Amino acid sequence: MTTLCVTLQIFLVLLVSVTVATDVTTKDEDQVNTIDSKFLASIYNGIGPVLNPPLAENTIELELPIPEQIHIAYGDVASEMIVMWSTPIPASSQVLYGLAPNNFSLSVSGDSVDFFDGNPDGLHYLHRVKLSNLIAGQNYSYKVRSDNELSDGYIFTAMKDGQDWSPVLLVYGDMGRIGGAPSLKLLRKEAASGLVDAVLHVGDFAYDLHTDGGKIGDDFMNRIQSIATRIPYMTAVGNHEIEFNFSHYRYRFSMPNSPWPMPLDNMWYSFNMAKVHFISYSTEVYFTDDNLIDVQYQWLLNDLQEANQPENRLKRPWIIVYGHRPMYCSNADSDDCTTLDSKVRNGLEELFFTQGVDLIIEAHEHSYERLYPVYEGKVLGKDYTNPKAPIHIISGAAGCNEFDGVCVNAMLGPRGDWSAFRAWLPGLYGFGKLHIVNETHIFWKQVLALNGQTIDSVWIEQHNHGPFNIADFDFEIENNDEEEDAWWLSD
Ligand SMILES: *[C@@H]1O[C@H](CO)[C@@H](O)[C@H](O)[C@H]1NC(C)=O
Ligand SMILES: *[C@@H]1O[C@H](CO)[C@@H](O)[C@H](O)[C@H]1NC(C)=O
Ligand SMILES: *[C@@H]1O[C@H](CO)[C@@H](O)[C@H](O)[C@H]1NC(C)=O
Ligand SMILES: *[C@@H]1O[C@H](CO)[C@@H](O)[C@H](O)[C@H]1NC(C)=O
Repeated sequence: MTTLCVTLQIFLVLLVSVTVATDVTTKDEDQVNTIDSKFLASIYNGIGPVLNPPLAENTIELELPIPEQIHIAYGDVASEMIVMWSTPIPASSQVLYGLAPNNFSLSVSGDSVDFFDGNPDGLHYLHRVKLSNLIAGQNYSYKVRSDNELSDGYIFTAMKDGQDWSPVLLVYGDMGRIGGAPSLKLLRKEAASGLVDAVLHVGDFAYDLHTDGGKIGDDFMNRIQSIATRIPYMTAVGNHEIEFNFSHYRYRFSMPNSPWPMPLDNMWYSFNMAKVHFISYSTEVYFTDDNLIDVQYQWLLNDLQEANQPENRLKRPWIIVYGHRPMYCSNADSDDCTTLDSKVRNGLEELFFTQGVDLIIEAHEHSYERLYPVYEGKVLGKDYTNPKAPIHIISGAAGCNEFDGVCVNAMLGPRGDWSAFRAWLPGLYGFGKLHIVNETHIFWKQVLALNGQTIDSVWIEQHNHGPFNIADFDFEIENNDEEEDAWWLSD
Protein backbone atom coordinates (compact mmCIF):
# COMPACT_ATOMS: atom_id res chain seq x y z
CA MET A 1 0.00 0.00 0.00
CA THR A 2 2.81 2.36 0.92
CA THR A 3 4.65 1.55 -2.30
CA LEU A 4 1.48 2.12 -4.24
CA CYS A 5 0.98 5.50 -2.60
CA VAL A 6 4.51 6.56 -3.36
CA THR A 7 4.05 5.48 -6.97
CA LEU A 8 0.82 7.41 -7.17
CA GLN A 9 2.43 10.47 -5.66
CA ILE A 10 5.18 10.43 -8.22
CA PHE A 11 2.61 10.01 -10.94
CA LEU A 12 0.62 12.92 -9.59
CA VAL A 13 3.63 15.19 -9.30
CA LEU A 14 4.49 14.39 -12.91
CA LEU A 15 0.93 15.04 -13.91
CA VAL A 16 0.93 18.39 -12.14
CA SER A 17 4.24 19.37 -13.65
CA VAL A 18 3.02 18.50 -17.10
CA THR A 19 -0.21 20.40 -16.64
CA VAL A 20 1.53 23.46 -15.27
CA ALA A 21 4.27 23.35 -17.87
CA THR A 22 1.68 23.10 -20.62
CA ASP A 23 -0.09 26.00 -19.09
CA VAL A 24 2.88 28.29 -19.22
CA THR A 25 3.09 27.91 -22.96
CA THR A 26 -0.63 28.13 -23.66
CA LYS A 27 -1.52 30.69 -21.10
CA ASP A 28 -5.14 31.19 -22.02
CA GLU A 29 -6.03 27.55 -22.29
CA ASP A 30 -8.23 25.68 -19.90
CA GLN A 31 -6.82 23.25 -17.47
CA VAL A 32 -9.25 20.46 -18.09
CA ASN A 33 -8.57 16.97 -17.00
CA THR A 34 -10.39 13.91 -16.03
CA ILE A 35 -8.59 12.67 -12.94
CA ASP A 36 -10.86 10.41 -10.98
CA SER A 37 -11.75 12.02 -7.68
CA LYS A 38 -11.48 8.80 -5.66
CA PHE A 39 -8.01 8.33 -7.09
CA LEU A 40 -7.01 11.78 -5.92
CA ALA A 41 -8.55 11.22 -2.52
CA SER A 42 -6.39 8.13 -2.15
CA ILE A 43 -3.32 10.18 -2.99
CA TYR A 44 -4.16 12.83 -0.46
CA ASN A 45 -4.64 10.16 2.15
CA GLY A 46 -1.20 8.90 1.30
CA ILE A 47 0.65 12.20 1.62
CA GLY A 48 -0.30 13.41 5.00
CA PRO A 49 -3.48 15.24 5.76
CA VAL A 50 -6.21 12.76 6.48
CA LEU A 51 -9.25 13.60 4.42
CA ASN A 52 -11.89 12.42 6.81
CA PRO A 53 -10.64 13.05 10.31
CA PRO A 54 -13.19 12.09 12.92
CA LEU A 55 -14.12 14.83 15.34
CA ALA A 56 -11.72 14.60 18.22
CA GLU A 57 -13.19 12.94 21.26
CA ASN A 58 -13.86 15.56 23.82
CA THR A 59 -10.52 15.80 25.51
CA ILE A 60 -11.42 19.24 26.74
CA GLU A 61 -12.09 19.38 30.44
CA LEU A 62 -15.59 20.80 30.27
CA GLU A 63 -15.56 21.90 33.87
CA LEU A 64 -12.66 24.28 33.32
CA PRO A 65 -12.64 27.44 31.15
CA ILE A 66 -9.68 26.27 29.05
CA PRO A 67 -9.32 28.68 26.11
CA GLU A 68 -9.38 27.31 22.57
CA GLN A 69 -10.10 28.55 19.02
CA ILE A 70 -7.88 31.58 19.57
CA HIS A 71 -7.77 34.03 16.66
CA ILE A 72 -7.00 37.66 15.94
CA ALA A 73 -8.26 40.36 13.57
CA TYR A 74 -7.44 43.99 12.91
CA GLY A 75 -9.40 46.48 14.99
CA ASP A 76 -10.97 49.79 14.01
CA VAL A 77 -7.61 51.52 13.64
CA ALA A 78 -4.12 50.32 12.78
CA SER A 79 -2.93 50.43 16.40
CA GLU A 80 -5.58 47.93 17.57
CA MET A 81 -5.78 44.16 17.48
CA ILE A 82 -8.80 42.05 18.44
CA VAL A 83 -8.18 38.72 20.18
CA MET A 84 -10.98 36.15 20.44
CA TRP A 85 -11.37 32.64 21.88
CA SER A 86 -13.93 30.22 23.28
CA THR A 87 -14.45 28.43 26.57
CA PRO A 88 -16.98 25.77 27.63
CA ILE A 89 -18.08 27.58 30.79
CA PRO A 90 -18.46 31.26 31.67
CA ALA A 91 -15.18 32.89 32.71
CA SER A 92 -13.25 36.14 32.59
CA SER A 93 -11.72 37.48 29.35
CA GLN A 94 -8.17 38.74 29.67
CA VAL A 95 -5.15 39.08 27.39
CA LEU A 96 -1.59 39.32 28.76
CA TYR A 97 0.84 40.86 26.30
CA GLY A 98 4.01 42.85 25.77
CA LEU A 99 6.73 43.56 23.27
CA ALA A 100 8.11 40.21 22.07
CA PRO A 101 9.72 37.96 23.00
CA ASN A 102 8.20 36.38 26.12
CA ASN A 103 6.95 39.57 27.63
CA PHE A 104 3.49 39.50 29.17
CA SER A 105 3.79 42.57 31.37
CA LEU A 106 0.59 44.28 30.20
CA SER A 107 -2.94 43.01 30.62
CA VAL A 108 -6.31 44.11 29.32
CA SER A 109 -9.81 42.73 29.82
CA GLY A 110 -12.71 42.39 27.42
CA ASP A 111 -16.18 40.91 27.06
CA SER A 112 -17.73 37.54 26.59
CA VAL A 113 -21.11 36.38 25.32
CA ASP A 114 -23.11 33.21 25.71
CA PHE A 115 -23.50 32.08 22.11
CA PHE A 116 -26.41 29.69 22.03
CA ASP A 117 -28.43 30.40 18.84
CA GLY A 118 -27.69 27.54 16.47
CA ASN A 119 -24.88 26.37 18.72
CA PRO A 120 -26.39 23.82 21.12
CA ASP A 121 -23.33 21.53 21.21
CA GLY A 122 -20.42 23.89 20.54
CA LEU A 123 -18.55 25.83 23.17
CA HIS A 124 -20.89 28.56 24.32
CA TYR A 125 -18.70 31.27 25.73
CA LEU A 126 -16.98 33.51 23.22
CA HIS A 127 -14.46 36.06 24.45
CA ARG A 128 -13.26 39.23 22.78
CA VAL A 129 -10.53 41.56 23.95
CA LYS A 130 -9.31 44.68 22.18
CA LEU A 131 -5.62 45.61 22.44
CA SER A 132 -5.05 49.32 21.81
CA ASN A 133 -2.16 51.73 21.35
CA LEU A 134 0.07 49.09 19.84
CA ILE A 135 3.35 50.32 18.42
CA ALA A 136 3.27 50.04 14.62
CA GLY A 137 5.21 47.15 13.15
CA GLN A 138 6.28 45.70 16.51
CA ASN A 139 6.05 42.03 17.41
CA TYR A 140 3.93 41.33 20.45
CA SER A 141 3.82 38.24 22.62
CA TYR A 142 0.44 37.37 24.03
CA LYS A 143 -1.51 34.78 25.98
CA VAL A 144 -5.22 34.67 26.68
CA ARG A 145 -6.65 33.94 30.10
CA SER A 146 -10.07 32.90 31.31
CA ASP A 147 -10.13 32.79 35.10
CA ASN A 148 -7.05 30.75 36.01
CA GLU A 149 -6.69 29.02 32.66
CA LEU A 150 -3.87 30.45 30.59
CA SER A 151 -3.21 29.64 26.92
CA ASP A 152 0.17 29.06 25.30
CA GLY A 153 2.09 32.13 24.20
CA TYR A 154 1.64 33.47 20.64
CA ILE A 155 3.11 36.30 18.60
CA PHE A 156 1.51 38.80 16.25
CA THR A 157 2.86 41.83 14.46
CA ALA A 158 1.01 45.12 14.93
CA MET A 159 0.12 46.73 11.60
CA LYS A 160 2.96 48.77 10.19
CA ASP A 161 2.69 52.51 10.04
CA GLY A 162 1.65 54.62 7.10
CA GLN A 163 1.58 53.69 3.43
CA ASP A 164 5.18 52.89 2.59
CA TRP A 165 5.29 49.17 3.04
CA SER A 166 4.24 46.21 0.92
CA PRO A 167 1.76 43.83 2.52
CA VAL A 168 1.33 40.24 1.42
CA LEU A 169 -2.02 38.55 2.03
CA LEU A 170 -3.19 34.95 1.78
CA VAL A 171 -6.51 34.88 -0.06
CA TYR A 172 -9.11 32.14 -0.42
CA GLY A 173 -12.71 31.18 0.03
CA ASP A 174 -14.56 27.95 0.60
CA MET A 175 -12.33 26.13 3.03
CA GLY A 176 -13.83 23.21 4.88
CA ARG A 177 -12.89 21.47 8.08
CA ILE A 178 -12.25 18.28 6.11
CA GLY A 179 -11.64 19.43 2.54
CA GLY A 180 -9.42 22.26 3.68
CA ALA A 181 -6.87 19.91 5.22
CA PRO A 182 -4.45 19.89 2.26
CA SER A 183 -4.51 23.71 2.01
CA LEU A 184 -4.14 24.15 5.75
CA LYS A 185 -0.74 22.54 5.75
CA LEU A 186 0.79 25.12 3.43
CA LEU A 187 -1.22 28.00 4.89
CA ARG A 188 0.17 27.22 8.33
CA LYS A 189 3.67 27.25 6.92
CA GLU A 190 3.04 30.59 5.21
CA ALA A 191 1.65 32.13 8.39
CA ALA A 192 4.57 30.85 10.46
CA SER A 193 7.10 32.27 7.99
CA GLY A 194 6.54 35.79 9.29
CA LEU A 195 6.45 36.93 5.65
CA VAL A 196 2.70 37.34 5.24
CA ASP A 197 0.60 39.96 6.94
CA ALA A 198 -3.01 38.77 6.95
CA VAL A 199 -5.58 36.35 5.59
CA LEU A 200 -8.67 37.21 3.58
CA HIS A 201 -11.12 34.30 3.89
CA VAL A 202 -13.81 35.21 1.36
CA GLY A 203 -16.79 33.28 2.72
CA ASP A 204 -17.78 29.65 3.41
CA PHE A 205 -16.12 28.32 6.50
CA ALA A 206 -15.86 24.77 7.86
CA TYR A 207 -18.91 23.30 6.00
CA ASP A 208 -20.53 24.45 8.15
CA LEU A 209 -19.80 26.37 11.31
CA HIS A 210 -23.19 25.32 12.70
CA THR A 211 -23.01 21.63 11.68
CA ASP A 212 -23.28 19.01 14.46
CA GLY A 213 -24.71 21.67 16.71
CA GLY A 214 -21.63 23.88 16.30
CA LYS A 215 -18.98 21.19 16.89
CA ILE A 216 -17.77 21.36 13.28
CA GLY A 217 -17.29 25.10 13.68
CA ASP A 218 -15.31 24.59 16.88
CA ASP A 219 -13.10 22.02 15.21
CA PHE A 220 -12.51 24.27 12.20
CA MET A 221 -11.59 27.22 14.40
CA ASN A 222 -9.07 25.03 16.21
CA ARG A 223 -7.60 23.89 12.90
CA ILE A 224 -6.98 27.47 11.75
CA GLN A 225 -5.74 28.54 15.18
CA SER A 226 -2.04 28.34 14.30
CA ILE A 227 -2.67 30.64 11.31
CA ALA A 228 -5.13 32.96 13.01
CA THR A 229 -3.08 33.47 16.17
CA ARG A 230 -0.11 34.68 14.07
CA ILE A 231 -1.81 36.90 11.45
CA PRO A 232 -5.17 38.69 11.42
CA TYR A 233 -7.89 36.46 9.96
CA MET A 234 -10.10 38.84 7.99
CA THR A 235 -13.38 37.51 6.69
CA ALA A 236 -16.36 37.96 4.38
CA VAL A 237 -19.65 36.17 4.85
CA GLY A 238 -20.70 33.33 2.50
CA ASN A 239 -23.85 31.38 1.77
CA HIS A 240 -22.78 28.54 4.06
CA GLU A 241 -23.05 30.93 7.01
CA ILE A 242 -26.74 31.61 6.33
CA GLU A 243 -28.27 29.29 8.94
CA PHE A 244 -29.59 30.74 12.19
CA ASN A 245 -29.43 34.26 10.79
CA PHE A 246 -25.69 34.00 10.19
CA SER A 247 -25.24 33.67 13.95
CA HIS A 248 -22.04 31.62 13.76
CA TYR A 249 -20.38 34.16 11.49
CA ARG A 250 -21.59 37.13 13.51
CA TYR A 251 -20.44 35.71 16.86
CA ARG A 252 -17.27 33.84 15.99
CA PHE A 253 -15.66 36.75 14.14
CA SER A 254 -15.27 40.41 14.98
CA MET A 255 -14.36 42.74 12.14
CA PRO A 256 -13.31 46.41 12.04
CA ASN A 257 -15.82 49.19 12.42
CA SER A 258 -18.70 46.87 13.21
CA PRO A 259 -20.08 46.09 16.67
CA TRP A 260 -19.70 42.58 18.07
CA PRO A 261 -21.52 40.31 17.67
CA MET A 262 -21.87 41.73 14.17
CA PRO A 263 -25.45 42.87 13.59
CA LEU A 264 -27.25 41.40 10.58
CA ASP A 265 -27.32 44.86 9.02
CA ASN A 266 -23.60 45.42 9.40
CA MET A 267 -21.81 42.35 8.06
CA TRP A 268 -19.60 44.62 5.95
CA TYR A 269 -16.59 46.72 6.82
CA SER A 270 -13.51 48.39 5.45
CA PHE A 271 -9.97 48.91 6.67
CA ASN A 272 -6.80 50.54 5.43
CA MET A 273 -3.53 48.71 5.02
CA ALA A 274 -0.48 50.39 3.49
CA LYS A 275 -1.59 51.68 0.08
CA VAL A 276 -4.88 49.80 0.02
CA HIS A 277 -8.41 50.52 1.10
CA PHE A 278 -9.96 47.06 1.61
CA ILE A 279 -13.72 46.51 1.70
CA SER A 280 -15.53 43.31 2.69
CA TYR A 281 -19.14 43.12 1.51
CA SER A 282 -21.97 40.61 1.77
CA THR A 283 -23.33 39.06 -1.40
CA GLU A 284 -25.86 37.27 0.77
CA VAL A 285 -28.12 40.32 1.08
CA TYR A 286 -29.17 39.56 -2.51
CA PHE A 287 -30.41 36.12 -1.50
CA THR A 288 -31.86 36.69 1.95
CA ASP A 289 -33.27 39.99 3.12
CA ASP A 290 -34.17 42.58 0.46
CA ASN A 291 -34.24 45.32 3.09
CA LEU A 292 -30.53 44.92 3.62
CA ILE A 293 -29.63 45.39 -0.06
CA ASP A 294 -30.11 49.11 0.18
CA VAL A 295 -28.60 49.40 3.66
CA GLN A 296 -25.38 47.83 2.43
CA TYR A 297 -25.44 49.75 -0.87
CA GLN A 298 -25.66 53.10 0.92
CA TRP A 299 -22.85 52.09 3.25
CA LEU A 300 -20.67 51.00 0.32
CA LEU A 301 -21.40 54.21 -1.59
CA ASN A 302 -20.43 56.38 1.39
CA ASP A 303 -17.34 54.33 2.12
CA LEU A 304 -16.19 54.40 -1.52
CA GLN A 305 -16.84 58.12 -1.86
CA GLU A 306 -14.75 58.71 1.24
CA ALA A 307 -11.97 56.49 -0.13
CA ASN A 308 -12.12 58.54 -3.34
CA GLN A 309 -11.63 61.88 -1.62
CA PRO A 310 -8.52 63.12 -3.43
CA GLU A 311 -6.30 63.14 -0.35
CA ASN A 312 -7.42 59.62 0.57
CA ARG A 313 -7.05 58.10 -2.89
CA LEU A 314 -3.62 59.67 -3.15
CA LYS A 315 -2.53 58.03 0.10
CA ARG A 316 -4.24 54.73 -0.68
CA PRO A 317 -4.55 54.49 -4.46
CA TRP A 318 -5.68 50.84 -4.48
CA ILE A 319 -9.27 49.93 -3.67
CA ILE A 320 -9.68 46.17 -3.28
CA VAL A 321 -13.02 44.64 -2.39
CA TYR A 322 -13.93 41.08 -1.47
CA GLY A 323 -17.30 39.35 -1.36
CA HIS A 324 -18.29 35.72 -1.62
CA ARG A 325 -20.36 35.16 -4.78
CA PRO A 326 -18.84 36.14 -8.13
CA MET A 327 -20.45 38.39 -10.72
CA TYR A 328 -19.05 36.32 -13.59
CA CYS A 329 -17.85 32.74 -13.85
CA SER A 330 -17.61 30.02 -16.43
CA ASN A 331 -18.55 27.14 -14.16
CA ALA A 332 -21.10 24.60 -15.30
CA ASP A 333 -23.67 25.03 -12.59
CA SER A 334 -26.70 27.24 -12.19
CA ASP A 335 -25.15 29.69 -9.75
CA ASP A 336 -25.92 33.39 -9.90
CA CYS A 337 -22.68 34.16 -11.74
CA THR A 338 -23.63 31.85 -14.63
CA THR A 339 -26.82 33.73 -15.45
CA LEU A 340 -27.33 36.70 -17.73
CA ASP A 341 -29.14 38.37 -14.89
CA SER A 342 -26.80 37.95 -11.93
CA LYS A 343 -28.24 39.58 -8.85
CA VAL A 344 -24.82 40.42 -7.46
CA ARG A 345 -23.68 41.89 -10.77
CA ASN A 346 -26.87 43.92 -11.16
CA GLY A 347 -26.51 45.11 -7.60
CA LEU A 348 -22.86 46.12 -7.42
CA GLU A 349 -21.01 46.18 -10.73
CA GLU A 350 -21.91 49.75 -11.68
CA LEU A 351 -21.02 51.03 -8.20
CA PHE A 352 -17.61 49.36 -8.25
CA PHE A 353 -16.94 50.61 -11.80
CA THR A 354 -17.93 54.22 -11.19
CA GLN A 355 -15.98 54.28 -7.91
CA GLY A 356 -12.85 52.89 -9.52
CA VAL A 357 -12.48 49.63 -7.59
CA ASP A 358 -9.25 48.06 -8.86
CA LEU A 359 -9.72 44.46 -7.85
CA ILE A 360 -12.77 42.38 -6.91
CA ILE A 361 -11.90 39.15 -5.12
CA GLU A 362 -14.58 36.47 -5.09
CA ALA A 363 -14.97 32.78 -4.27
CA HIS A 364 -18.05 30.47 -4.05
CA GLU A 365 -17.10 28.55 -7.20
CA HIS A 366 -14.72 25.76 -6.19
CA SER A 367 -12.19 26.55 -8.85
CA TYR A 368 -9.91 29.38 -9.89
CA GLU A 369 -10.62 32.00 -12.56
CA ARG A 370 -8.97 35.29 -13.50
CA LEU A 371 -10.85 37.81 -15.58
CA TYR A 372 -9.76 40.59 -17.91
CA PRO A 373 -10.89 44.08 -16.94
CA VAL A 374 -14.63 43.84 -17.61
CA TYR A 375 -17.77 45.89 -17.28
CA GLU A 376 -21.28 44.80 -18.23
CA GLY A 377 -19.85 41.79 -19.99
CA LYS A 378 -17.52 43.86 -22.17
CA VAL A 379 -13.80 43.31 -21.99
CA LEU A 380 -12.03 46.65 -21.75
CA GLY A 381 -8.61 45.56 -22.87
CA LYS A 382 -6.86 42.21 -22.68
CA ASP A 383 -4.00 43.24 -20.50
CA TYR A 384 -3.48 44.49 -16.98
CA THR A 385 -1.63 47.74 -17.62
CA ASN A 386 -3.79 50.70 -16.73
CA PRO A 387 -6.96 48.61 -16.73
CA LYS A 388 -10.11 50.56 -17.59
CA ALA A 389 -12.45 48.50 -15.42
CA PRO A 390 -12.28 46.35 -12.29
CA ILE A 391 -10.49 43.01 -12.45
CA HIS A 392 -12.24 40.00 -10.94
CA ILE A 393 -10.40 37.04 -9.47
CA ILE A 394 -12.31 34.00 -8.20
CA SER A 395 -10.29 31.96 -5.72
CA GLY A 396 -12.66 29.43 -4.17
CA ALA A 397 -10.48 26.36 -4.36
CA ALA A 398 -9.15 26.12 -0.80
CA GLY A 399 -11.02 22.83 -0.33
CA CYS A 400 -14.71 22.51 0.30
CA ASN A 401 -16.16 19.30 1.67
CA GLU A 402 -18.09 17.83 -1.21
CA PHE A 403 -17.33 14.53 -2.96
CA ASP A 404 -15.30 13.05 -0.11
CA GLY A 405 -13.36 16.25 0.16
CA VAL A 406 -12.26 16.15 -3.46
CA CYS A 407 -14.36 19.05 -4.39
CA VAL A 408 -14.54 21.01 -7.59
CA ASN A 409 -17.04 22.92 -9.68
CA ALA A 410 -16.42 21.99 -13.29
CA MET A 411 -15.72 24.85 -15.68
CA LEU A 412 -17.51 23.53 -18.72
CA GLY A 413 -19.93 26.41 -18.92
CA PRO A 414 -19.95 28.96 -21.72
CA ARG A 415 -16.78 30.96 -21.43
CA GLY A 416 -17.00 34.71 -21.96
CA ASP A 417 -14.25 36.75 -23.57
CA TRP A 418 -13.61 38.09 -20.09
CA SER A 419 -12.20 34.77 -18.89
CA ALA A 420 -8.42 35.07 -19.07
CA PHE A 421 -7.43 31.94 -17.17
CA ARG A 422 -9.30 29.17 -15.42
CA ALA A 423 -8.33 26.05 -13.53
CA TRP A 424 -10.40 23.40 -11.87
CA LEU A 425 -8.16 20.46 -11.29
CA PRO A 426 -10.18 18.09 -9.11
CA GLY A 427 -8.76 17.81 -5.65
CA LEU A 428 -5.80 20.04 -6.37
CA TYR A 429 -6.61 22.80 -3.99
CA GLY A 430 -5.03 26.17 -3.87
CA PHE A 431 -5.12 29.71 -2.62
CA GLY A 432 -4.00 33.14 -3.71
CA LYS A 433 -1.18 35.40 -2.60
CA LEU A 434 -1.70 39.10 -3.05
CA HIS A 435 1.36 41.32 -2.89
CA ILE A 436 0.76 45.06 -2.79
CA VAL A 437 4.12 46.12 -4.17
CA ASN A 438 3.69 49.88 -4.45
CA GLU A 439 1.26 52.54 -5.66
CA THR A 440 1.35 51.34 -9.26
CA HIS A 441 2.02 47.61 -8.98
CA ILE A 442 0.23 44.61 -7.49
CA PHE A 443 1.38 41.05 -7.94
CA TRP A 444 -1.16 38.24 -7.68
CA LYS A 445 -0.55 34.53 -7.85
CA GLN A 446 -2.55 31.37 -7.31
CA VAL A 447 -0.61 28.46 -5.84
CA LEU A 448 -1.29 24.76 -5.48
CA ALA A 449 -1.72 23.66 -1.89
CA LEU A 450 -0.03 20.41 -2.75
CA ASN A 451 3.44 21.86 -3.38
CA GLY A 452 3.18 25.62 -3.50
CA GLN A 453 3.61 25.64 -7.26
CA THR A 454 2.29 28.75 -9.00
CA ILE A 455 -0.46 27.91 -11.49
CA ASP A 456 -1.25 31.48 -12.49
CA SER A 457 0.17 34.90 -11.84
CA VAL A 458 -0.38 38.44 -13.01
CA TRP A 459 1.07 41.90 -12.49
CA ILE A 460 -1.62 44.55 -12.26
CA GLU A 461 -0.22 47.97 -13.11
CA GLN A 462 -2.30 51.09 -12.65
CA HIS A 463 -0.94 54.60 -13.04
CA ASN A 464 -4.34 56.33 -13.20
CA HIS A 465 -6.15 55.26 -10.07
CA GLY A 466 -9.65 56.62 -9.67
CA PRO A 467 -13.19 56.21 -10.95
CA PHE A 468 -13.38 54.44 -14.29
CA ASN A 469 -14.61 56.34 -17.27
CA ILE A 470 -17.91 55.41 -18.83
CA ALA A 471 -16.64 56.89 -22.10
CA ASP A 472 -14.15 54.01 -22.38
CA PHE A 473 -17.05 51.66 -22.07
CA ASP A 474 -19.23 53.43 -24.68
CA PHE A 475 -16.35 53.40 -27.10
CA GLU A 476 -15.99 49.68 -26.59
CA ILE A 477 -19.69 49.06 -27.26
CA GLU A 478 -19.67 50.94 -30.57
CA ASN A 479 -16.77 48.86 -31.72
CA ASN A 480 -18.28 45.57 -30.75
CA ASP A 481 -21.88 45.89 -31.84
CA GLU A 482 -22.08 42.48 -33.40
CA GLU A 483 -20.79 40.89 -30.20
CA GLU A 484 -23.19 42.57 -27.88
CA ASP A 485 -25.34 39.54 -27.18
CA ALA A 486 -22.70 37.00 -27.93
CA TRP A 487 -20.30 37.56 -25.09
CA TRP A 488 -22.01 35.16 -22.77
CA LEU A 489 -22.37 32.38 -25.29
CA SER A 490 -18.91 32.38 -26.77
CA ASP A 491 -16.77 29.54 -25.58
C1 LIG B 1 7.57 44.47 27.76
O1 LIG B 1 6.50 45.09 27.03
C2 LIG B 1 6.14 46.35 27.53
C3 LIG B 1 4.90 46.80 26.80
O2 LIG B 1 5.00 46.70 25.45
C4 LIG B 1 7.31 47.31 27.39
O3 LIG B 1 6.95 48.58 27.88
C5 LIG B 1 8.50 46.76 28.15
O4 LIG B 1 9.62 47.57 27.88
C6 LIG B 1 8.80 45.35 27.69
N1 LIG B 1 9.83 44.79 28.55
C7 LIG B 1 10.93 44.22 28.03
C8 LIG B 1 11.88 43.65 29.03
O5 LIG B 1 11.14 44.18 26.83
C1 LIG C 1 9.29 40.39 14.16
O1 LIG C 1 9.66 39.03 14.06
C2 LIG C 1 10.14 38.63 12.79
C3 LIG C 1 10.43 37.16 12.84
O2 LIG C 1 9.25 36.44 12.97
C4 LIG C 1 11.38 39.41 12.45
O3 LIG C 1 11.81 39.06 11.16
C5 LIG C 1 11.09 40.88 12.51
O4 LIG C 1 12.29 41.62 12.30
C6 LIG C 1 10.50 41.27 13.85
N1 LIG C 1 10.09 42.65 13.81
C7 LIG C 1 10.55 43.55 14.69
C8 LIG C 1 10.06 44.95 14.50
O5 LIG C 1 11.31 43.26 15.60
C1 LIG D 1 -33.83 35.65 12.17
O1 LIG D 1 -34.08 37.00 12.51
C2 LIG D 1 -35.40 37.40 12.27
C3 LIG D 1 -35.51 38.90 12.49
O2 LIG D 1 -34.72 39.31 13.57
C4 LIG D 1 -36.34 36.61 13.20
O3 LIG D 1 -37.68 36.96 12.97
C5 LIG D 1 -36.15 35.12 12.92
O4 LIG D 1 -36.89 34.36 13.84
C6 LIG D 1 -34.69 34.73 13.02
N1 LIG D 1 -34.53 33.36 12.54
C7 LIG D 1 -33.79 32.46 13.19
C8 LIG D 1 -33.71 31.11 12.56
O5 LIG D 1 -33.17 32.72 14.21
C1 LIG E 1 6.81 49.75 -8.27
O1 LIG E 1 7.15 48.38 -8.42
C2 LIG E 1 7.50 48.02 -9.75
C3 LIG E 1 7.66 46.52 -9.78
O2 LIG E 1 8.62 46.10 -8.86
C4 LIG E 1 8.72 48.79 -10.18
O3 LIG E 1 9.04 48.44 -11.51
C5 LIG E 1 8.45 50.27 -10.06
O4 LIG E 1 9.62 50.99 -10.37
C6 LIG E 1 7.98 50.61 -8.66
N1 LIG E 1 7.59 52.01 -8.61
C7 LIG E 1 7.99 52.80 -7.65
C8 LIG E 1 7.51 54.21 -7.70
O5 LIG E 1 8.74 52.43 -6.77
